[in-house]
Amino acid sequence: MDVAHHPARWADASASSPFALCGRTALVTGAGTGIGRAISLALAAAGADLILLSEQENLDATAVGAAEMGSKVDCLRLDLGRQDRLSRIKEAFDGNSVDILVNNAGLIRRSPADEFTNEDWHDVIEVNLHAAFELSRAAGRGMLERGYGNIINIASLLSFQGGVFVSSYTASKHAIVGLTKALANEWAGRGVNVNAIAPGYVATATTEDLRADPRRAGEISARIPAGRWADPEDIAGAAVFLASPAAAYVHGHVLVVDGGWLAR
Ligand SMILES: NC(=O)c1ccc[n+]([C@@H]2O[C@H](COP(=O)([O-])OP(=O)(O)OC[C@H]3O[C@@H](n4cnc5c(N)ncnc54)[C@H](OP(=O)(O)O)[C@@H]3O)[C@@H](O)[C@H]2O)c1
Repeated sequence: MDVAHHPARWADASASSPFALCGRTALVTGAGTGIGRAISLALAAAGADLILLSEQENLDATAVGAAEMGSKVDCLRLDLGRQDRLSRIKEAFDGNSVDILVNNAGLIRRSPADEFTNEDWHDVIEVNLHAAFELSRAAGRGMLERGYGNIINIASLLSFQGGVFVSSYTASKHAIVGLTKALANEWAGRGVNVNAIAPGYVATATTEDLRADPRRAGEISARIPAGRWADPEDIAGAAVFLASPAAAYVHGHVLVVDGGWLAR
């Protein structure tokens, strides 16, 4: 039997837990804040080493927390909207193989569609979609060579719904689901798992404007069957699962973690 097609057998610690990530290196984008930070710490708790990437100087807390759990941690500050992003990443981490890629970095711009600027359109698509594709292609090549790897894209409820005043964000989050399925379709047979997580409403900087608007925040809260917004940590377990040998046969899936919003 070819072990490359049975990832449950190649994790060092898979015998002790199907969710163990010992011996694997995860690259997480947008790792200094919110969901990316929570996912990074959860991957570290499961035993992964980390490569953390963010735009601002804000990775210290994540890096220290992960190192305290025994992870080897590398950090890079980089604007993923830059066209030279891949060469910057390769320069910094040459020789480091990425076993798990979490395309978490994302931005949102709010404006009515008829007033939406080209800049707000392109900036969002560049980071939320183009950078995610380029990183997936670059990390995916190594994964395909080795015959294993896990890519996790962070989608959204706006991968399924239209949203209000966020046309470029909604377009990017629909597209990231399409990309997830396209890559899964090509790479599932070669040992690489590509999946997505669609978080519901999470209390982070991305939703600060929404939470500051009592009417909108109230409408949203009233619709969530779980009765509360998510904390970033509510999303992290799904990432550990999708990164782990337990998800070996999960391909092209969008795991919705929304407190029941879409079930309503
Ligand atoms: N909060 C929600 O309700 C929700 C729901 C569904 C999906 N999501 C998605 O979850 C992901 C994380 O968002 P969040 O809610 O955790 O908000 P957040 O704390 O604002 O996180 C966004 C992250 O993206 C990074 N980022 C943005 N632009 C970047 C750029 N040009 N280059 C490099 N990194 C960049 C930010 O890095 P810096 O801090 O360094 O700028 C930040 O760490 C996003 O993809 C978002 O769309 C969020």
